[in-house]
Amino acid sequence: MRGSKSPEDWEDLSDWYDKKQGESGDLWHRALIDPVLLKLIGDCKGSEVLDLGCGNGYLARRLARTGARVTAVDSSSRMIRNARAHDPEDALKVRYVHSDASRLVGVEDASFDLVFANMSLMDIEDAGGAVGEVGRVLRRGGRFVASICHPCFDTCSNSGWVAEKVGFEPARVYRRVRGYRTPFSEGVPWRLGTGGRKFTRSFHRPLSWYARVLRAGGLAITALEEPEPSEEFLVREREKEGDLDGAGFLEVPLHLVVEAVKP
Ligand SMILES: C[S@@+](CC[C@H](N)C(=O)[O-])C[C@H]1O[C@@H](n2cnc3c(N)ncnc32)[C@H](O)[C@@H]1O
Repeated sequence: MRGSKSPEDWEDLSDWYDKKQGESGDLWHRALIDPVLLKLIGDCKGSEVLDLGCGNGYLARRLARTGARVTAVDSSSRMIRNARAHDPEDALKVRYVHSDASRLVGVEDASFDLVFANMSLMDIEDAGGAVGEVGRVLRRGGRFVASICHPCFDTCSNSGWVAEKVGFEPARVYRRVRGYRTPFSEGVPWRLGTGGRKFTRSFHRPLSWYARVLRAGGLAITALEEPEPSEEFLVREREKEGDLDGAGFLEVPLHLVVEAVKP
C-alpha cells in the first residue's frame, strides 16, 4: 500500500466521523453527493432496505423516517455503536449489524428490495465480494445504488487539480490523472479540525472493474450519474482561498453514482 505507512482504521476515526456527518451529512454529502443518490433511491416506503458501510447511519435513519424497513451494516463496531446512539429508544427500528460487507453472515438470500452504499465501496477491501453479496441478498427486480469516488477522475493521490493562467483570462482548471489502469490502495488523508491529519485505506479500481463485478454479481447497470455541485457547495468552496474544488467540479465530476438492477 502507498501513501501513509500505517493508516488508521475507520474504528479509530468513528467518533470524529460521527460528529462530521451528524444527522444530515457533511457539506460534500449534503450538497453534492446525497441529492443524486437519494433521487436514484426514490420512494422506498414499505421496502426492505440495506445500507452497506453505513458509517454513523444518518442516511439509514433518514430512509427509516420515510417508512422504509432498514438494515445498516458496517465493519467498524464503534461506527455501529455510535449509529445506535442516535436513536436510543429504537424508535426508527433500524437493524444495525456489525459485519464485513463481503460476508453478510445471517442475511438471507433475496431479502432486500434495495441495497445502497454511500461512499463506502472504495473503502471495502473485498468490494467484489461485497457486490456479490448484494446480488445474493437482493430480490429479483431489486436495485443497488452506490456512490463512489469517480474512478476516472479521482485516482487518489494520482490525481489533482491544475490551474492555468493565460494572460488576462480567468484561470482554467484541469484535472490531471495518472496511473488510472492499475488498481492500488493507499492511505487517504482526512483533516481533523484540530489541524492534525489521519488516514484511512482506500482502493482505486478502474471503471471497467466496477462494470465487471456488477455483471459477475448478476446486476445490470441502469443509470450512471455524475453529481454537480449545488449553490451551497459552490458558495462554501469559494470561501476557501486557493481551493479549486468548486471551480473544478463545474467541469469535471469527482463522484459517480451507479444504479444496477437484479433482473
Ligand atoms: C467513507 S465512510 C462512508 C460512511 C457512510 N456511508 C457515509 O456516507 O457517511 C466508509 C464506511 O465504510 C465502512 N467499511 C469499510 N470497509 C468495510 C467493510 N469491509 N464492510 C463494511 N463496511 C466497511 C467504514 O467503516 C466506514 O464507515
